[in-house]
Amino acid sequence: MKGIVLAGGLGTRLLPLTKITNKHLLPVYNKPMIYYPIETLVKAGIFEILVVTGGNHAGDFLKLLGNGKEFGLKHLNYTYQEGEGGIAEALGLAEHFADNESVVVILGDNIVEEDITEMVKNFEDQKVGSKILLKEVTNPERFGVAEIKNGHIVKIVEKPDVPTSHYVVTGIYMYDSEVFNMIKQLKPSQRGELEITDVNNIYIEKGKMTFDILKGWWTDAGTFESLFKANCLIADKVRNGEQ
Ligand code: G1P
Repeated sequence: MKGIVLAGGLGTRLLPLTKITNKHLLPVYNKPMIYYPIETLVKAGIFEILVVTGGNHAGDFLKLLGNGKEFGLKHLNYTYQEGEGGIAEALGLAEHFADNESVVVILGDNIVEEDITEMVKNFEDQKVGSKILLKEVTNPERFGVAEIKNGHIVKIVEKPDVPTSHYVVTGIYMYDSEVFNMIKQLKPSQRGELEITDVNNIYIEKGKMTFDILKGWWTDAGTFESLFKANCLIADKVRNGEQ
């Protein structure tokens, strides 16, 4: 299983913090944001990792992360996303890297408390299709929301006005190599991007989507509120001697 960290985008929701740097390089308590998703993959036993970045500060990732020695890696792979084509477009750039293997994809601003090794193992046993990780939250309208019936996800709706559940799609996705063909068939959404939610809905329609629910805390860090929350959660962890 290979790992992909998506760290492109312009991070406009965090302006002016992102005026002179990339969102994923901003601090989350005592480390740059992108350290956390890389650590999540490494902890799950994934050592072949691609970082997809973009924007004006892509070179800084190389300066910061190098060959990934700090994470115990021998090598890190990088690729560059031109423009703002969305999460699914960024993932599409990883086709060559994936080379027909399954992948674990994590958004560069997603921070999880727990070790996802077990969930990755569940997906390995599943062999085909896709698995996503859900989390129960109090503000689902800010995320992709999963409608669940009889233990299956029947649909994901991106940032709905009226959410049908409190289970949201975290930025951790596992896909077989079919994902790259699906991405090629996508049409841009109203905001002009290729949406990861459209990819997930194709897997759901084909009956090839499973899910696990995260038990520990989870947050993204792409807004002032969530970035602040991420800082507080990590600060608590450090104070408790866990990080
Ligand atoms: C993206 C996805 C959304 C998901 C979220 C998790 O949203 O589109 O489905 O719930 O990541 O972090 P964005 O952060 O781009 O608004």
